[in-house]
Amino acid sequence: MKPLIIGNWKMHGSLAKNAALLQAIVAHCDAQKADWVVCPPFPYLSQAQSMLEDTGIAWGAQTVSAFSQGAFTGQVDASMLLDFGVSFVIVGHSERRHGLGESNIYVADSAKLVIEHGMNAILCVGETLVQKEAGQLETVLQEQLLSALKQIAPENAKNLVIAYEPVWAIGTGKTASQEDILKAHTLIKNILKEKDANFYNSVRILYGGSVKPDNASQILTILYVDGLLIGGASLDPQAFSEIGQCKPSF
Ligand code: PGA
Repeated sequence: MKPLIIGNWKMHGSLAKNAALLQAIVAHCDAQKADWVVCPPFPYLSQAQSMLEDTGIAWGAQTVSAFSQGAFTGQVDASMLLDFGVSFVIVGHSERRHGLGESNIYVADSAKLVIEHGMNAILCVGETLVQKEAGQLETVLQEQLLSALKQIAPENAKNLVIAYEPVWAIGTGKTASQEDILKAHTLIKNILKEKDANFYNSVRILYGGSVKPDNASQILTILYVDGLLIGGASLDPQAFSEIGQCKPSF
């Protein structure tokens, strides 16, 4: 199976910079080698749509409201994303859980709406350094996962992607060790198995946190790693394409 490689641009970009980046991604990211998704900020989704349509590269949003259309200033509803051809939506990124106070319930409700609208939810989970040092990895993963799985019908499991992103590894240059990644992905796989065979068989599990071209291929060999969620390195088309094993054609 091809790895799923997702670029989270976070709050970076401009029309001009994105045009160059998207053009390079289209030129160098080989859809035979990986399933590619890029997630620009909301205002640039239409640009992504017009530049990526029919290229084999998908585009996604970085978050979505847990509410349906209504009086929610500044929020974006799942149905609006469909107008821009969005097929993937990141929910529960740690920069939103820990930076903006999104709760497990809020994240679960967002994931539910994404899936109800026929899109794929990329549910981010992971422990902080304090939680890791306190031996709370399993508890944290269970709480974050079970609250979301409660809201998702097992027959929709193929629309769910889980991204394990240890908070202490995001944007810090500290990648989790192979043992850390294997341990967390095995715990996630077991939680999925206990919940339903559909979740166990169909949900893809990504790793994210300081993935770069020089550590990506090793991470992709770890059991239960089905792909990668890339932050910083996704803004560099050469690094992004190398990470996904694209043809080294630069
Ligand atoms: P990073 O970010 O690759 O810059 O560590 C990963 C993420 O936040 O998804």
